[in-house]
Amino acid sequence: MIGRNDPCWCGSGKKYKKCHLSEDRKSPQRPEPQQKKQLKEKKLIKSARDIEGMERAGAFNGELLDYIRPFITAGISTGEIDTLVHEYTVSHGHTPACLGYRGFPKSVCTSINNVVCHGIPSPGEVLREGDIVNVDFTTIVDGYFGDSSETFMIGAVSEEARHLVTVTAEALIRGIDAVRPGVPLAAIAEAIEPFAVSKGCAVVHQYTGHGIGKKFHEHFTVYHHIDPECEPVILFPGMTLTIEPMINRGTWEVVTDQVDGWTVRTRDGSLSAQFEHTVLVTEGAAKVLTLTPSQKAAGVRLFVDGIHFR
Ligand code: MF3
Ligand code: CO
Ligand code: CO
Repeated sequence: MIGRNDPCWCGSGKKYKKCHLSEDRKSPQRPEPQQKKQLKEKKLIKSARDIEGMERAGAFNGELLDYIRPFITAGISTGEIDTLVHEYTVSHGHTPACLGYRGFPKSVCTSINNVVCHGIPSPGEVLREGDIVNVDFTTIVDGYFGDSSETFMIGAVSEEARHLVTVTAEALIRGIDAVRPGVPLAAIAEAIEPFAVSKGCAVVHQYTGHGIGKKFHEHFTVYHHIDPECEPVILFPGMTLTIEPMINRGTWEVVTDQVDGWTVRTRDGSLSAQFEHTVLVTEGAAKVLTLTPSQKAAGVRLFVDGIHFR
């Protein structure tokens, strides 16, 4: 236990009673110093050096997204998108994380309409007006992973598709806003699922966010739906994770393609959308590591369909 006159656990140098004591009384979830030490030992809390590496990986992933964005229009094939991602990444000296990951055959995931995630790019698959497509980028920069995605609307899309895409973007923003030090991981799902359901949509259970660092998926699962299986992890400054809700217009249930073993579709054929950012837990609001240059310039975390999500 920490005494009232001990230095505060947060490292401010102030006495505990003058710093986090009153807040901690309100939120019993905050780790005690012993737990904090364990978190560091387990590498859940990253060193300053590792955080700097994660920032560089996130920044490159954001640059890549902004580079690809103007190409994502009617007439381009997902195979061409994959080639652009691969060439941009490699020419900057970095590694596309998806290529060869558990046997995934391409450098990026492209998931159209009823495809939830892990769509495999193909030269014969051409984007058409009215489609929605998620492009999920992950890059390894000097050993660190940056992971982010957006769902793009191709030309004029249905009202239903537009609704789903904007609800999903807001769901990600609400999930990021739930990230505060001392809060349980489950707070993310609590911010996302009731919101999505209130908008007539459903949150995919089977695929989740994740801890991220020098490994693609590490330490813990970030649920976007409320689930008793969610681990009792407390968020603490220095942790890095992804939030990446997949949200369906119909049922939350999904099926994986039996032939390619990757493509995940909604069970009922309804539309699905997804947005993803990699974030760092700080003493205050979560820091989004995968902001693109255009998002940084506009001071937003997402810009979708003319809506600024600050
Ligand atoms: N980028 C995905 C994620 O957000 C993972 C894709 S794995 C792949 O976690 F093998 F399909 F590329
Ligand atoms: Co991803
Ligand atoms: Co991810």
